[in-house]
Amino acid sequence: EIPCYNTVASYREWRQKARDERKSVGFVATMGALHSGHLSLVRQSLRDNDLTVLSIFVNPAQFAPHEDLATYPRTLERDLNLASQESFTSADGTLRKLSAAFVPTVSEMYPTGIVQDVALQKGTFVEVKGYGDEMEGKSRPTFFRGVATVVTKLFNIIEPTQTYFGQKDIQQALLLRRMVRDTLLSHPTPENLHIVPTARDEVDGLALSSRNAYLSPAGRRVAPTLYAALQIAKTAWEEGCTKQECVRRAIHHVEQKRDEAAPDVVVKADYIELNNSDTFEVIPDDAVAAKDGVAKPVLLSGAMWVDKTRLIDNIILGNE
Ligand code: PAJ
Repeated sequence: EIPCYNTVASYREWRQKARDERKSVGFVATMGALHSGHLSLVRQSLRDNDLTVLSIFVNPAQFAPHEDLATYPRTLERDLNLASQESFTSADGTLRKLSAAFVPTVSEMYPTGIVQDVALQKGTFVEVKGYGDEMEGKSRPTFFRGVATVVTKLFNIIEPTQTYFGQKDIQQALLLRRMVRDTLLSHPTPENLHIVPTARDEVDGLALSSRNAYLSPAGRRVAPTLYAALQIAKTAWEEGCTKQECVRRAIHHVEQKRDEAAPDVVVKADYIELNNSDTFEVIPDDAVAAKDGVAKPVLLSGAMWVDKTRLIDNIILGNE
């Protein structure tokens, strides 16, 4: 049984002991409904740190009023079970397992309350200006403010030596790294915020996600279309096509699959875009891949609706 802390105060006692013992603390933040993607972050943390902490908190502030806060899967017991099965044997033969779970209530994380309506909100929020508007932020306007605010709180509570985020949510990970840099945070430092590759279904490449649980069998069959479309765009980019042409081919692929899947499943591309990986600025329509191969990596990302489920995925171009 791993110790599970529900309050900031009780976790901080545990953290003080770790500090006294000069142990490094790795941290994985999640909203639960754990799958192999989350567990790969846990495994990386077990490898790198003396102790590992997992947080599970479905953060209301990052859900818009029309989004799936109420139905978001909550499977705490199963999650703790799964996470506690992960282990790593260090060089000196010590068996490392999850050390603690932090599972706060909403009132513990938001002691002065939380207001869903943006116009009525008061108090302190963390916003990484200019980084939350493109890509995911375009479709979900207050999402990244909710993420940056809760992760700031979590970093202040957990005080991680190192922390692990998934490439699956690449904009989130890069935005948080920028936030850590801008605010001169030391727990973690920007270098200690690690990005772990996306875990995928071995057969069809679908990025693992808690939201995949919403898919019907027919929806699940068509869900890998997004990743396939991104790969088509990647190939086009590498062949020297313009950005506009890369996106056109990817969208065309989604539309083909959409027509095949109808009427059983409603498929719709939300966006497919190429963005600068430092600034998130949209790559111009007529841009082509640098021929000398030294260009900065480019983010190729997309979102797609399968019935009422919104799926996201991305590939980093020029990073191999
Ligand atoms: P959640 O969606 O639960 O994801 C928790 C972490 O797991 C994130 O860093 C996410 O990128 C990573 N992850 C999810 N699917 C993955 C996959 N297939 N492969 C690798 N990593 C994957 O992201 C959040 O929660 C929240 O926004 C949070 C950061 C916890 C703030 O509330």
